Amino acid sequence: MAYMGSETADIEHMPRGGPKASCLDRLLETDRLEYLDRDDVDEARKRSVIRALEWTGEFFGNHEKFAAIALELVADAPDPAILELGAGHGGVSRKLLENHPTARVTVTDVNPVSVADMAASDLGRHPRAVVREMDATAIDAADASFDLAVFALSFHHLAPTQASQVFAEGTRVARKLLIIDLPRPPAPLHLLRLATMLPLAPVVPFVHDGVISSLRCYSPSALRALAAHADPAITVELRGGLRIPQIVIAGRG
Ligand SMILES: C[S@@+](CC[C@H](N)C(=O)[O-])C[C@H]1O[C@@H](n2cnc3c(N)ncnc32)[C@H](O)[C@@H]1O
Repeated sequence: MAYMGSETADIEHMPRGGPKASCLDRLLETDRLEYLDRDDVDEARKRSVIRALEWTGEFFGNHEKFAAIALELVADAPDPAILELGAGHGGVSRKLLENHPTARVTVTDVNPVSVADMAASDLGRHPRAVVREMDATAIDAADASFDLAVFALSFHHLAPTQASQVFAEGTRVARKLLIIDLPRPPAPLHLLRLATMLPLAPVVPFVHDGVISSLRCYSPSALRALAAHADPAITVELRGGLRIPQIVIAGRG
C-alpha cells in the first residue's frame, strides 16, 4: 500500500523521505539489505565493511567528532553513564573513554561477532567500559539508566517500525538519545551522490553498503514522524546539513 497522507499511523509504509516525499524521492529508496544485515553473506565480507567503517571514521575524524557531540550533551553530568548502540567496531566509544576522564560507557551491538571482537579488544579490558550484545529496538536496561544513548551511522539500517522503536527505547533508558546518520539530500542531489558510488558498488563491499545506506537514510521530516509515532511527548532537535552528518537529539520533556 502506498503511503500518501501525513499521518503516522501507517508508519511501516512511510517513505524514507518522510510523509510528503516527492515522487522522485520515493523512487530513491530500497528494501534491499546491506551486507551487514544479511544472514546469507559470509562473515569475512561483513568484517571487511566494519573494518572500512573503522578506518574511514578514524581517517576523517568522525569518531572524534561524534564523541565530542555526545560529550557536549552530558557536560552537566559529573560521571556520565553513556550507552553506545550499534557500536560496530567501538571507535566512538574509545574516543568517549579517551576524552572524558570518568565517563562510563556500555558498548553494544546487535551483531554477536562484532560484540565478541570488541570484547576481545582494549574495550573489553577497559575499567570504565562494559561490552554487551544489545538490540537498539528492545534495549535490555531499566528506565533512566543512562545519561545518554548514542546510535551512530546505524539508524538507516532499520525499517520505519523498528526505527520508531529506537526513539521509544532510547528515550526510555536514557535522558537523551543522540542519533547521528547520513543526511538524505534533495532527490536531484541524491541521484548525483548515487551516480558517483554506483560504479564501485558491485566490487567493493563497503561501497555496496554505502549505496544501500544512501537509499535507506531518513529525511528530517521522516525523523520527526518516527519520533511522533513512538510517542508524541518525545521532543526532537535536528541539526546538520547536506555535507555533514544529520544529528538528532531526542528526549522526553
Ligand atoms: C554501519 S554500522 C555503524 C558502526 C559504527 N556505529 C560506526 O559509526 O561506524 C551499523 C551497525 O548497526 C548495527 N545494528 C543494526 N541493527 C541494529 C539493531 N537493531 N540494534 C543495534 N545495532 C544494530 C550493525 O550490527 C552495525 O554494527
